[in-house]
Amino acid sequence: MGTVRNIVILTGAGISAESGIDTFRSAGGLWEQHRVEDVATPEAFARDPELVLRFYDMRRAAIQEKLPNPAHFALAELDAKWKGGLLIVTQNVDDLHTRAGARRVLHMHGEHLKAWCTSCDVRSHWRGPLIERPPCPVCQARTLRPDVVWFGEIPYRMGEIYAALREADLFVSIGTSGAVYPAAGLVRNARDLGIATLELNLERSQGSDWFHESRQGPASALVPQWVEEILAK
Ligand code: APR
Repeated sequence: MGTVRNIVILTGAGISAESGIDTFRSAGGLWEQHRVEDVATPEAFARDPELVLRFYDMRRAAIQEKLPNPAHFALAELDAKWKGGLLIVTQNVDDLHTRAGARRVLHMHGEHLKAWCTSCDVRSHWRGPLIERPPCPVCQARTLRPDVVWFGEIPYRMGEIYAALREADLFVSIGTSGAVYPAAGLVRNARDLGIATLELNLERSQGSDWFHESRQGPASALVPQWVEEILAK
């Protein structure tokens, strides 16, 4: 691997697994007995808003009881010490990267701890339930929804992600199955750009063959080890 100046990291549910947050596909695509299609789509929200709001109220409350694990803390240490470019793109909607101290974090699938007003379009920090349809803090309309990107919706800030990739010398994917695009396609963009690519995942993923190097093991062990390596270069 040549000189590394700018790094783009993609994280998925696997980095939060050891914090006690279920991944999506290891549970057979069920979220607490709900099929993903029944809750994480605009159609589901239009059909049964209470079901969807109750589901996300439960998830929003659950993540607030979880704690970052050594993998989150290792990336926060990298963020604090890395003098070059760094962007931690996460598919996760938990706030464990930020709670571990990472700053250069981009939530491409939104965040549990935000509510999006479909009247005034403002996104507000939100920790409580939405089931009672509380008023938007800005426009008072009772039209808040979870600020989570649902299937069929466009992930956030893709332009920034591709721009960071064009400047990167290294792309690292951590804890993702490579099942959902456009996140799963980033390793191919990296390869097309001639960037070094590394995967850290519990098991081989759908994208493993695209990585120059793929290491299997728990994030809590592999991520601190990799951060130590890259800081020592
Ligand atoms: N350490 C590292 N990797 C792990 C660990 C662990 N302790 N435990 C599980 N993994 C790996 C699994 O092997 C799997 O490859 O994490 C990956 C989790 O994959 P998914 O459950 O598919 O989660 P993710 O890839 O983040 O899903 C992407 O799909 O459901 C949508 O929007 C949702 O952001 C999500 C997207």
